[in-house]
Amino acid sequence: MSDAPIQAWCDVRLFDGVHDHPEPMAVIVRGERIDTVVPMRELAADALDGAKVLGRGGVLTPGLVDCHTHLVFGGQRADEFEQRLEGVSYQDIAAAGGGILSTVRATRQASEAELFERAAARLEAMLADGVTTIEIKSGYGLTVADELKCLRVARELGERYPVRVFTTLLGAHALPPEYADDADGYIDLVCREMIPAAVESGLADAVDVFCEKIAFSVAQCERVYAAAAEHGLPIKAHVEQLSNLGGAAAAARHGALSVDHIEYLDNEGIQAMADNGTTAVLLPGAFYTLRETQCPPVQALRDAGVPMAVATDGNPGTSPLFQPTLMLNQACTLFRLTPKEALSGMTRYAARALGQSDFGTVAVGQIADLCVWNIEHPAELAYAVQPQRLRQRVLAGRVLG
Ligand code: NIG
Ligand code: FE
Repeated sequence: MSDAPIQAWCDVRLFDGVHDHPEPMAVIVRGERIDTVVPMRELAADALDGAKVLGRGGVLTPGLVDCHTHLVFGGQRADEFEQRLEGVSYQDIAAAGGGILSTVRATRQASEAELFERAAARLEAMLADGVTTIEIKSGYGLTVADELKCLRVARELGERYPVRVFTTLLGAHALPPEYADDADGYIDLVCREMIPAAVESGLADAVDVFCEKIAFSVAQCERVYAAAAEHGLPIKAHVEQLSNLGGAAAAARHGALSVDHIEYLDNEGIQAMADNGTTAVLLPGAFYTLRETQCPPVQALRDAGVPMAVATDGNPGTSPLFQPTLMLNQACTLFRLTPKEALSGMTRYAARALGQSDFGTVAVGQIADLCVWNIEHPAELAYAVQPQRLRQRVLAGRVLG
């Protein structure tokens, strides 16, 4: 510990994950962890002894945490984009066998190496935008072997790139054609084979579902939650995106880490989330892409004290948007979050949505996952959509470019 390298950033404008500090601050990192966070004027004369000063000025924030992505998939859906421009709805495209199932066909056909290569390109863009932690879901395989294939790719991304990866099994994403008219039979497969296989291979950190008329019912999702609990995995859920099925309340009562989308969330859902400590994950990219008009109940979530995270939902259908800082902008412009709320939503509360609390804030003792930006004010990250503002990305004290 004593010979761990000491690194310092001086005269930074700090957003620590919760608060903006207008006066110049110093952040000192010892080894992997944050050692000191102090205003420059209070910095002890010997505080920087033995420290390497790695930067002066700029804005320092926690590394960005994208807590909801579908980064691993085959093919693309530009044709559906054009169909939607002509007025065909996302639900109609799904009912005709397109949508998620179109990506399932392409993902099943793709080799693991191809999936890796395509996802790696998307990941590189996200790292350049400040991501230090990313959650990656499966959900485009829908067989045991194809779901595991996608989860392996997600794990490998975390091994080959300097980023923390959390993987989520989303077997209950859509009903695959082999199970048409037998949704309960498919849920049996998810519960009895997919979840155990994912647990045995150590490939999943959590389990997710899509609770919606075009996907699975609350009762079917509850069977998945029970199986996940039996195997010791936390749950997350896509709920109330296109309609209200009461999925958020059900997931929260099962102890979900997060419920995601929630445009159609009602008061019962909000209360259940508040009671169970469930984080709300807002996905403005999907709202924007589908030209939704009903916003998530942001003010009611604030009033109930439910923490709000913000994520890209990066996927080939509803959010082909792989730029986290764009989501900060959209969360403010479309959902009326404050820039501070949006930034907390992609740092502290995004970590919380993954069940993590030792990164996502800049505080003494936290893991040093940080970003330093070439801007003057933290709100600029939400205000302007402008790539290449990242000066340094720091992962557990390791400075990366
Ligand atoms: O988060 N809501 C369900 N799943 C994805 C969309 C998947 C797709 O259209 O490919 C989402 O929006
Ligand atoms: Fe999603």
